[in-house]
Amino acid sequence: MPRFVTARDAVLAVAVLCAIACRVSPATAGDATRGREVFALAAGCSCHTPAGGPVGAGGAKIATPFGTFYGTNITPDPATGIGAWSDAEIDEAIRGGHARGKGAEAPVMPYNWYAGMSDRDAADLIAYLRTLEPVRRENLPHEGELPLSRYAYAAWRFLFFTRPARVMEAPASGAARGRYLADHVSLCADCHTQRTMLGVVDASMYMAGTAEGPGGAVVPNVTPHETGIADWDAADIANVLESGMLPNFDNVQGSMQEVVDGVGGGPGYKDASAADRLAIAEYLRTVPPIDNTVE
Ligand code: HEC
Repeated sequence: MPRFVTARDAVLAVAVLCAIACRVSPATAGDATRGREVFALAAGCSCHTPAGGPVGAGGAKIATPFGTFYGTNITPDPATGIGAWSDAEIDEAIRGGHARGKGAEAPVMPYNWYAGMSDRDAADLIAYLRTLEPVRRENLPHEGELPLSRYAYAAWRFLFFTRPARVMEAPASGAARGRYLADHVSLCADCHTQRTMLGVVDASMYMAGTAEGPGGAVVPNVTPHETGIADWDAADIANVLESGMLPNFDNVQGSMQEVVDGVGGGPGYKDASAADRLAIAEYLRTVPPIDNTVE
């Protein structure tokens, strides 16, 4: 009778094999169905979808003080999209700031926020992206880019980006989940916070709005200060994320409307779960109130 065939050894062997398998392929375990939820919470990654669709085909115009950028093709087309990229390469483009074959990404891609996305959510999102309809469409060159821009992006990344410790699972509920979603998936603060001259979000003005948001639009102060939305309760905020309707029955416009509704037939916050929208709303009630009148 060989000595290794004991129940204890068998359990050990399975555990070791499992550990090896999980180590080697964390990103291949993605669940595309869950990934669609993440995609909705990320407003359908709408910068990558042109106004009339198709979803993820690239070409949406993003005007910044540093030039005009066009969202890239993130459909699984192998020639013009990301179909030929490995999971690790897609992950590095989302959470690490490096695009395959190009080097550092322009900080207009908010990888600094996505970096805090959990391993599970990133893997599920990637699995979902692979299910998008492949679209053959060449990426448009960015306008107003300097010849050495990639070096500038690399310098920006070096100066302002710290890769956070990886978390396997996102918080499951409550304000902790709300904060996680607002900061690392739905990117509320990326639009709702003013930036310094170097294009870095000013942490001391977190969520306090800006007169120069995406496309030069005014983005309101959403902190619980009287110059913000102090008199809203969590249900009011969750309602905006679901229907775009403000407590005064007006509808949100511009880029907020896009992230709520989705762009080009893709999902938006309205397609996320009610529990997640409420978690974000509850978290927003807890951020420090900041006195900032935006006009
Ligand atoms: C792409 C940029 C962008 C993102 C991302 C974004 N917002 Fe907005 N948000 C805006 C703009 C622009 C407005 C103003 C819309 C208008 O003028 O009708 C707005 C309006 C709002 C309002 C209404 C405030 C008021 O006083 O009328 C709330 C509340 C809000 N956003 C919360 C959020 C939350 C929570 C998130 C994240 C889940 C978020 N936003 C993500 C751009 C954005």
